Amino acid sequence: MENYFIFVPIKKRHKKVMIIAVDGYSSTGKSTVAKMIAAKLGLTYIDTGAMYRVVTLEAIRQGVIVNGEVDKEGLRKVLKNLKIDFKYNASGNRYETYLNGEYVEEQIRGMEVADQVSTIAAIDFVRTFLVDLQREMGKSKSVIMDGRDIGSVVFPDADVKFFMTASPEVRARRRYKELLEKGSGVSYEEVEANVKKRDYIDAHREVSPLKQTDDAVLVDNSDMTIDEEVEFMIGKIKAVSDKQS
Ligand code: DC
Repeated sequence: MENYFIFVPIKKRHKKVMIIAVDGYSSTGKSTVAKMIAAKLGLTYIDTGAMYRVVTLEAIRQGVIVNGEVDKEGLRKVLKNLKIDFKYNASGNRYETYLNGEYVEEQIRGMEVADQVSTIAAIDFVRTFLVDLQREMGKSKSVIMDGRDIGSVVFPDADVKFFMTASPEVRARRRYKELLEKGSGVSYEEVEANVKKRDYIDAHREVSPLKQTDDAVLVDNSDMTIDEEVEFMIGKIKAVSDKQS
């Protein structure tokens, strides 16, 4: 008699995925703490700002945004041919961003992209395109996602929502230090002006403006160390996860 191998799918035990939303103003250190929490709790970290930056970089390269003027039809075509990937670099313990297979982590962090990204992020069809991708990413695994509208639009039912803030001066000083370390010749005044301009556009745009939802935990880190912040946030996440299990 022949041997038959019968494939019986093993029923996976249903395990609820956990969604942690980290929203807030630019340069509040959202990505730094979100990465640390992801590493400590075994969550996948997703930087949604990087996604808006990738679209901006490609829009600049394709000439569909020039001095803040956007060619919307051109931008729609750009989106059709755009593929964004995040790859984990184990040796650097970080996620790196790829645009159509090209490593663009450095380019998306420069001032040219920073100057135009709020304009791109205010366009409704860009947001719909990226929000769909973000929802897809949170479907099958537990994630900690940082951005501006994660708790309000992308995942209104997120398990835990944080809203990060710090004074504009504290944030500009942090960002200036980061850029200096990367060898940028930008002045402190330019950085402060960029931080304030982005705050204004992000909070006043028509589609998904940045705002704290009623159920978000406010974290003002002007006078907190990163370790204090991470400990505080993990405490909140654990309290929710203990309640759910
Ligand atoms: O977090 P960041 O500084 O890398 O974000 C870059 C820009 O993208 C910022 O101006 C706000 C915008 N953004 C957004 O509108 N929605 C998100 N979910 C993430 C970023």
